[in-house]
Amino acid sequence: MRLLILGTGWMAQQHARQFGNIEGVELAGAVDIEPSRVDELSDTYGIPNRFTSLEDALTWGKFDAAANITPDRIHHPTTMKLIAAGKPVLCEKPLAENYVKASEMADAAERAGIINMVNLTYRNVAPLQKAREMVLAGEIGAVKHVEASYLQSWLVSKFWGDWRTDPKWLWRLSRGHGSNGVLGDVGIHILDFASYGAGLDIEHVFCRLKTFDKAPDNRIGEYELDANDSFTMALDFTNGALGVVHASRWATGHLNELRLRIFGDRGGIEVVHNLKGSELKVCIGGNIEDALWKTLDSGSVPTNYQRFVDAVRSGVPAEPSFRHAAELQKVLDLAVVAAERRAELTTHADTQ
Ligand SMILES: NC(=O)c1ccc[n+]([C@@H]2O[C@H](COP(=O)([O-])OP(=O)(O)OC[C@H]3O[C@@H](n4cnc5c(N)ncnc54)[C@H](O)[C@@H]3O)[C@@H](O)[C@H]2O)c1
Repeated sequence: MRLLILGTGWMAQQHARQFGNIEGVELAGAVDIEPSRVDELSDTYGIPNRFTSLEDALTWGKFDAAANITPDRIHHPTTMKLIAAGKPVLCEKPLAENYVKASEMADAAERAGIINMVNLTYRNVAPLQKAREMVLAGEIGAVKHVEASYLQSWLVSKFWGDWRTDPKWLWRLSRGHGSNGVLGDVGIHILDFASYGAGLDIEHVFCRLKTFDKAPDNRIGEYELDANDSFTMALDFTNGALGVVHASRWATGHLNELRLRIFGDRGGIEVVHNLKGSELKVCIGGNIEDALWKTLDSGSVPTNYQRFVDAVRSGVPAEPSFRHAAELQKVLDLAVVAAERRAELTTHADTQ
């Protein structure tokens, strides 16, 4: 399978590494509007064909599928062009900046009948998959309560570079540069982690968003620092369970950590994933009497990259699809309105 990498910034290195390690996958071409970036990635990973526009890459056309790793607001226009050209796409998250655009992408991909996936990275976490299997098998009984968090600390630590000077962080702080803040950046990850892990669909949403002052006049150069830094969300699910989901870039002491706790009437499950690894703990059976938790081995699961390649080769669609990401985007859009109105909203109504 010949792959085109579209957008050769930070996350593209992960795609190049992961796809490059899959047997039979050739990194055939790379595109970035910044020539120095396309050269850097291509030199590092031996990519022979380099372009500074998607249009030029499409005219060349010698690729079977594309990984779209451009900034959030570029996903929609570029993916629509790839779909029109009949190319399967693994698109980075969030699929688009809003539900309307995300569902347009899902509609177009489905109409064209092409393989479409969104890189919800934490599907690669084996304990998450095992937790879901256990919930769906009824091992913890009826789920009553869910707690999930996504904690990052890049506004207080320089582990991944200094946000004050690094464009890859500055665009994430600025609505004018296409960012919906922490909600748009990692909200989709933690909503997927919570709802997929617990095997539940979200019905109602209430959300609070917060943007803290960070620089004089909240501006650095061309970047107005107006995107949200923290959110807290209250959810209820279609089975009647309640959920609390939150995320922050101010979570001092947590570089990148997702946690999910699922409580059923016959057991509890906890998944923790951070840069050191991931863990699954359960409290079930007789252990619920004295709250004894046991760590379980979850084995390993194929990555999204591998599953995308398998889907392109076999023609059999795989999840998470554009449609799934669009449905999560609907919850994120509702969260913004809920925060503005300080009111709970439902995922069922088309307009509220
Ligand atoms: N799945 C994950 O866990 C995960 C992690 C990090 C980032 N991401 C996502 O990956 C995407 C890229 O993030 P990043 O951190 O690599 O950003 P980045 O700014 O480092 O890289 C984006 C690159 O896209 C290029 N670009 C912009 N417009 C383009 C266009 N029209 N055509 C081609 N290239 C274009 C930029 O020049 C830049 O080199 C974002 O959507 C982000 O949300 C996902």
